[in-house]
Amino acid sequence: MDDLIRETARRLATARRVVALTGAGISVESGIPPFRGPGGLWEKYDPMEFAHIDALMKNPEKVWKIFMGDMKRVLLAAKPNDAHLGLARLEFLGILKTVITQNVDGLHQMAGSTDVIEFHGNFAWLQCMDCGARAETVSVDLNIVPPRCACSGIYRPECVFFGEMIPREALVRSQELASTCDVMLVAGTSAIVQPAAFMPVIARQAGAVVIEINPEPTPLTGHTSHFLVQGKAGQVIKAVTAEVERLLEEKRP
Ligand code: APR
Repeated sequence: MDDLIRETARRLATARRVVALTGAGISVESGIPPFRGPGGLWEKYDPMEFAHIDALMKNPEKVWKIFMGDMKRVLLAAKPNDAHLGLARLEFLGILKTVITQNVDGLHQMAGSTDVIEFHGNFAWLQCMDCGARAETVSVDLNIVPPRCACSGIYRPECVFFGEMIPREALVRSQELASTCDVMLVAGTSAIVQPAAFMPVIARQAGAVVIEINPEPTPLTGHTSHFLVQGKAGQVIKAVTAEVERLLEEKRP
């Protein structure tokens, strides 16, 4: 077994409070493309033209037709992979306290994680841009583009678009967790978008061990994170979780 897998499991098994920060990379093995890097959505669409709040307000039809059309198909069909399932298992074992996710796919909750902070909102709920009425995405016919509320206003997903604030409760709670954890797993994020990418910095400054799981290094690698377990999140987290279970078994009287 990879030494870093063993080291990660050892740190987790003896930690007081573990928090995970996840990004789009953790859902790649569920068939959802990332935003950056090979096959990334931002290679196909200009985020400022399709994922900025100004673009949505100016031309909601275009945003829904182009960007949401692609997104809804993958989001509504996706299932959790070994990475989501492993993190949910670590929560069940009492090792992982909270997942702070930048993803809007709801796969952590579907995998069984119960304490998930949706830092960039979610695609599970829509809100009317006129009257503010909310509806569950699955209850709305997304073949009608753009989907409309009974008041005939256009629905928008409750994701955080570029140019919008992070939901206050999510930001405050994430900062509090980052500053009080003793291990932070950072899985599947390019660590470019702020303020999400600052959570590992807060954790490191507070004395936590920051461990990255990613096939590629990121701007955190080499100074904010203590080490990078280079690999796919599904494989790495599955192996780490199995090793944690072995260590816990060993400790049992
Ligand atoms: N396992 C783990 N990591 C992976 C995998 C995998 N199988 N495949 C790709 N990655 C890594 C990539 O190397 C990259 O570092 O996942 C990361 C994906 O980065 P982004 O696509 O930038 O996703 P993310 O970091 O979540 O983006 C942050 O940007 O556009 C906004 O709101 C959007 O929440 C998103 C935010």
